[in-house]
Amino acid sequence: MKLVVFGSTGMGGSAAVAAGLERGHDVTVLARSQASADKAPPGVRVVRGDALDPAAVARTLDGADAVIQYLGVGGLGDGKPNDFVPDATRVIIEEMRAHRIERLVCASNMGLPGSGAFLFRRVLVPLFARRLPPILDAKVVMEARLADSELAWTAVRLPALKAGAAKGTVKVDPTGRATGYAITCADAADFMLDSIEQRRHLRTAVGVSN
Ligand SMILES: NC(=O)c1ccc[n+]([C@@H]2O[C@H](COP(=O)([O-])OP(=O)(O)OC[C@H]3O[C@@H](n4cnc5c(N)ncnc54)[C@H](OP(=O)(O)O)[C@@H]3O)[C@@H](O)[C@H]2O)c1
Repeated sequence: MKLVVFGSTGMGGSAAVAAGLERGHDVTVLARSQASADKAPPGVRVVRGDALDPAAVARTLDGADAVIQYLGVGGLGDGKPNDFVPDATRVIIEEMRAHRIERLVCASNMGLPGSGAFLFRRVLVPLFARRLPPILDAKVVMEARLADSELAWTAVRLPALKAGAAKGTVKVDPTGRATGYAITCADAADFMLDSIEQRRHLRTAVGVSN
């Protein structure tokens, strides 16, 4: 399969690239700087450009079968409202439509309205993750753009990403209320790749954790 990963240098995206290569897929990434391009593992096709630039996104998508959008603003960002992820997702959706590519898996966040355990939403976020709410607000807009599209999309609502080897078991809960507080990047990547390869969790948001 020809797989595109946006956000390929981030903690989550780099694991998605590694999982794609491990499974024998042809992987293409978009890099907005030479430093980011240099981080691509051997065998990965690198397109230079910005995720908000339709022409660069179109070049990246050329010939693709499926897309993983793992873009972010760098950790929790600066705590201010930021439309980058939903705006880039809109560009990706429009260019996927133009290229007749239908499968899109997007990184989203545990804690969107209606998701996440009570302790997470009411205690951990207000007390210990005060920069998270603008990230969640942006993902609400992103998920609405996915729902408005006709694509075969999946929004994977992630808890804290951890480094380390895959544990091999992933709890999945549509509401995210029965899932835990962390997942390894490797397990999250495997969940995304399994969802693509097995055409599962179509047109829905789903919570995951270890
Ligand atoms: N990390 C976590 O614990 C966690 C938990 C839950 C959900 N998430 C979500 O997962 C997503 C990724 O988070 P992350 O921590 O793995 O990554 P991150 O550190 O936020 O990295 C963001 C990625 O997006 C790329 N990027 C940013 N702006 C770009 C632009 N204008 N054009 C092209 N590429 C651009 C970056 O490339 P450069 O190399 O150019 O910077 C990088 O590859 C986010 O949406 C985040 O909210 C993360």
